[in-house]
Amino acid sequence: MAIEDQKRAAAARALGFVTAGMRLGLGSGSTAKLFVELLGQRVRDGLKVVGVPTSDATRRDAEQYGVPLSTLDRTPELDLTVDGADEIAPDLSLIKGGGGALLREKIVAAASARMIVIADESKWVSVLGRFPLPVEVEPFGLQATRRAVEAAFAATGSPAEATLRQTSNGHAFVTDGGHWILDGALQRIADPKALAARLSAIPGVIEHGLFIGLATVAILAGSGGVRVIERS
Ligand code: A5P
Repeated sequence: MAIEDQKRAAAARALGFVTAGMRLGLGSGSTAKLFVELLGQRVRDGLKVVGVPTSDATRRDAEQYGVPLSTLDRTPELDLTVDGADEIAPDLSLIKGGGGALLREKIVAAASARMIVIADESKWVSVLGRFPLPVEVEPFGLQATRRAVEAAFAATGSPAEATLRQTSNGHAFVTDGGHWILDGALQRIADPKALAARLSAIPGVIEHGLFIGLATVAILAGSGGVRVIERS
């Protein structure tokens, strides 16, 4: 199965968790986009749901595919969020934010009773950290925040530079919320909880891409088929 087919297979399996009347968090990225597309087909067939998008891109996709939308202000409690990930560890802790949507993704996931993460099997890792960890920061005081973020990396056993994410034309990448992103090529995050706590304590850090204790189910598609893994 090609990677695109694997992503679609994972997205299709996630649809089986959706029931009529659900309030859904709609994730961001290429795998989540396939879920939104498939959900749109079900809506056209008569399924009644409402979705809260985690990015402007997902909002546009949902509008295109005909998924009725709400906001967290109007619908502050969600039944289920379906989202992709950049890495998934066996305890279903995640690295997210490769697409830059981590802040809204985490807000929406935290407002949901359940979160299902969908991915091709390349995202499954024994230890988080090979994918650079995104840290969303306030532009004001960037250099001070960068030093504090690097100190947090070092203090938790993964010394690494925090690199400002840039667009292809050399400008700082700006998130939907108007912030910047530092990426940390940590290689191996020995203690994700400790790192998450240190990063969250830095004033210039808006949010980080470690999603711990949020995903309840992972749906992984690979050449051998689709696996559904529940958090124990
Ligand atoms: C968006 O900010 C990310 O968290 C995505 O969920 C993640 O990058 C996965 O994207 P893909 O499904 O495109 O790999």
